[in-house]
Amino acid sequence: MPAISLTINGRAHGPIEVRADLSMNDFLREVLGLTGTKFGCGAAQCLSCAVIVDAGDGTSATMPTCVIAATDFDGKAIRTVEGHAKDGALTPLQQSFISHFAFQCGYCTPGFLNEGQVLLERLEKAPIPRAELERTVTEALDGHLCRCSGYVKYHEAVRDVILADPGRFLT
Ligand code: FES
Ligand code: FES
Repeated sequence: MPAISLTINGRAHGPIEVRADLSMNDFLREVLGLTGTKFGCGAAQCLSCAVIVDAGDGTSATMPTCVIAATDFDGKAIRTVEGHAKDGALTPLQQSFISHFAFQCGYCTPGFLNEGQVLLERLEKAPIPRAELERTVTEALDGHLCRCSGYVKYHEAVRDVILADPGRFLT
């Protein structure tokens, strides 16, 4: 069996032997017990299973885990929903999700949270004009499906974190 090593939420894991056909979703949930990452459609259509992948150049992007083998994450640094809060302190985005009551069943929430966090970090490095904010948030969250139809609340939760600190995210 192949063995993989990777960093998850800043902690090194591995080498761990995995079946070649084991999905990253099953690796996180069944092998490591990180069940915050959800399994929805299983077909790369809903992004409830998305995690953050941190590239070596300092950029980050979300990636689904349901249709990608764990072996494809060998050597990567990723973040899951479990990695957002630090010492029990929620991030501004997590607090905004709660104050907006952005989620209902919560099944899609880890994916939206990871996507929103990637957007915040991107805007911190490359702020945008206020006039582009609504479109930018819409485009960032596009592709994440919520069966409870919480799209507006998620949008508002992400947008309001940005508006609360305009000098950090907006030009
Ligand atoms: S469960 Fe992975 S995209 Fe839906
Ligand atoms: S809150 Fe239920 S699927 Fe989004």
